Amino acid sequence: MAWEIDARTKIIALVGDPIEHSLTPQIQNAALKKLGVNVRNIAFRVPKGLLRDVVKGFKVAGVLGVMVTIPHKEDAFKIADERDKFAELMGSANLLVFKDKRVIAYSTDGYAASRSLRETGIDIRGKCVAIVGTGGAGRALAFQFVLDGARKLTLFNRTIEKAKKLGDELKRKLGFSEVRVLAYDPDLIRSELKNCDLLVNATSVGMHPNETGIPIPADALHRDLVVFDIVYNPVRTRLLKEAKRKGCKTVDGVPMLVYTNEKAIELCLGVKVTDELIKLMLRICYKALRHRH
Ligand SMILES: NC(=O)c1ccc[n+]([C@@H]2O[C@H](COP(=O)([O-])OP(=O)(O)OC[C@H]3O[C@@H](n4cnc5c(N)ncnc54)[C@H](OP(=O)(O)O)[C@@H]3O)[C@@H](O)[C@H]2O)c1
Repeated sequence: MAWEIDARTKIIALVGDPIEHSLTPQIQNAALKKLGVNVRNIAFRVPKGLLRDVVKGFKVAGVLGVMVTIPHKEDAFKIADERDKFAELMGSANLLVFKDKRVIAYSTDGYAASRSLRETGIDIRGKCVAIVGTGGAGRALAFQFVLDGARKLTLFNRTIEKAKKLGDELKRKLGFSEVRVLAYDPDLIRSELKNCDLLVNATSVGMHPNETGIPIPADALHRDLVVFDIVYNPVRTRLLKEAKRKGCKTVDGVPMLVYTNEKAIELCLGVKVTDELIKLMLRICYKALRHRH
């Protein structure tokens, strides 16, 4: 089937700054092509502060939705007319959908992380979880893990004030009191991880081009720990390599990226994304990352 752009082609936009490194257009266009819809995902580099103007234009121009990444997630939340529950919790959004002249904001990072773990057979219920990094993604993971029934959360962040703020929000918004905030210190991490079931890296440490970076001391890892690194470039981060060596079960960041795209397609087009389509997106993403550097 020809898949040409014509005068009826619709757009799902992706905005951020920087944006050129993003894999989303590659992943999502493969899925859209397979779906046989006349829709394309196109990336736009939009400097901070200009999201409102761009969204206003997109809305008039008939764009279906806008996937939003750094530095616009808080602004996306503010400019929306309606927000889903998870966006309300987060105070930020990563997807805007135009519906009946209204702008609806969604926050899907929590869903995407949760499904990544679930699909690997990991159930968060009753688990003790350590999250390193409480930036945008770390916040989503913390809220989601509480909703998924985690027993205890420990938060580490280089800038401890951000972790403290998140800890307070978990108590206030979700009534969750089993949260500890600790300084980003190798000894504290070592002793805390002894009692944890799951470690999540939500910092950018270990990401290309700083691939030798590791967010925690490697000797803090033990074989009873599941290690989830949401960094996806490279797929096998130094943290995941060290964790494998220790015999830990590991989960990489690619499925989380794919499930974010799944949600965007579902919410912008109103279609269900099949398992076959998910598999296609996973294949495209792993292949693109293999050939990247
Ligand atoms: N797989 C996926 O779908 C997915 C989705 C979202 C994000 N991610 C990845 O997750 C990472 C974080 O994204 P984000 O959106 O949360 O970014 P962000 O809001 O900018 O947060 C960055 C986090 O990394 C920490 N950090 C940065 N450099 C550090 C260093 N040298 N030492 C210790 N901590 C450091 C920051 O600590 P401070 O607060 O102290 O600065 C903060 O906690 C990125 O690598 C991103 O690519 C993956």
